[in-house]
Amino acid sequence: MTLSAKTKPHKHIMTISTQRITVSHLQKMKQQAEKITCLTAYDASFADTLSQAGIEVLLVGDTLGMVVAGHTTTIPVTMQDMVYHIHNVARAKPTSLILADMPFMAYHNTDIALKNAIKLMQAGGEMIKMEGGAWLTPIVQALNQQGIPVCAHLGLTPQSVHLLGGYKIQGRPPEQAKQIMNDALALQQAGAKLLVLECVPYELAQAITKEVLIPVIGIGAGPYCDGQVLVTPDMLGLTNKQFKFTHNFLLNQHDGIQGAVKEYIRRVKNAEFPTLEHSFT
Ligand code: KIV
Repeated sequence: MTLSAKTKPHKHIMTISTQRITVSHLQKMKQQAEKITCLTAYDASFADTLSQAGIEVLLVGDTLGMVVAGHTTTIPVTMQDMVYHIHNVARAKPTSLILADMPFMAYHNTDIALKNAIKLMQAGGEMIKMEGGAWLTPIVQALNQQGIPVCAHLGLTPQSVHLLGGYKIQGRPPEQAKQIMNDALALQQAGAKLLVLECVPYELAQAITKEVLIPVIGIGAGPYCDGQVLVTPDMLGLTNKQFKFTHNFLLNQHDGIQGAVKEYIRRVKNAEFPTLEHSFT
């Protein structure tokens, strides 16, 4: 059987490595313009499936409070919850890098942040993600000094949902866009090694991706970021939610969850997902 150009596996899928993914790999991927794929994982089974499919970063996100525990926000998630789920993911020994999310109020000052980052790293995290702008710079510096890599999270920061007045696109007014750009630069300067940009206009995400040297992973941030993250239960259509920025990869997929994840990887690597259709202006 001959494969059409559309169904031929992309070269990156054929070169899935069994090597563990590190911060340096991600930096190199940005330099080589290879898209980074990231999905959330909260347990050993999914961590193994996603890692074997070739996902580079597994985010143990505090979205577990919504998609696993059934809360309406991520605010009730505790350090204990995060430690439990990070342990579960780490036990699968994925080749993907394990990105561990700091929950609500676990990093409101440097001492607390350091104490909690240690717990997440000792549970198996390999990089710590925190939501917030330039105010986080002393915390990023302190973690960096202790050898803990940090991923910053800008744009829609769900832990601030009540302050933001809902899950709304951020960065549309020019002064807000400028603030997000300045925050990204300040966090990079402080030592952040990765940046997640959530629900911002695609042109702002494109400008930030171009401006910063660290890799930028988007969600609802358009097609021009260095990589893409989705909440796994959303992209498998398990959450019954239709967000503009996501896509049900399991629908019409005859090869189960692995097949859906491989299709996600193929489309992200080939810049076929996300498109402007999944983006905000
Ligand atoms: O917690 C999470 O899953 C996240 C993603 C939405 C980026 O932060």
